[in-house]
Amino acid sequence: MNPESSLRGPSAGAGAGDTSSAVNPPDSVRYAFINEAIARSTGRPGALLGILEAVQERNPRKYLCADELSYIAAKTNIPLSQIFSVVTFYALFNLEPQGDHTICICRGTACHTRGSRTLLESVRLELGLEETPGQAGADKLTLTTADGRFTIRTVACFGQCALAPVVELDHRILGHMNERALAREVEGLEQERHE
Ligand code: FES
Repeated sequence: MNPESSLRGPSAGAGAGDTSSAVNPPDSVRYAFINEAIARSTGRPGALLGILEAVQERNPRKYLCADELSYIAAKTNIPLSQIFSVVTFYALFNLEPQGDHTICICRGTACHTRGSRTLLESVRLELGLEETPGQAGADKLTLTTADGRFTIRTVACFGQCALAPVVELDHRILGHMNERALAREVEGLEQERHE
């Protein structure tokens, strides 16, 4: 599916192909919001992306729950498999709860050659995060601290290669980073918490 395409419109009634009646909303407020997001986006270019973005943004932990994706699929008549393809293709979408602060480390070629792996390892150790077995040594990972304070994740390239190595901290781009500077940034966030 091309995510830029507009939706065909919400399913109407209980006709053939309408699966929305099979969904039993556990949270009427969340689902009402999704209905509104679908209604706002229907017929617009990039409708599905807009809906997913709105739903994720509304979640306090900035992620898309499985039941929400199923509900969107049912209401838009877009196969769930296609919605998953979109969610997993775009780095901005999350399928797991995110921390209060996000540290995003670039693992593109320019940043790699300038030490981004060391940055990643140092901040992971500083936050006491263990790599899950499947992620050991992987360039692509997402890890969140048990207290929900921090998420560290990797991206392929920020498009800011001249500033390598690049880290994005809560949507703030930090160029020419080193381990000490990154540790200071993280400590600063921890201090803010106690003030
Ligand atoms: S490789 Fe890191 S910003 Fe491009």
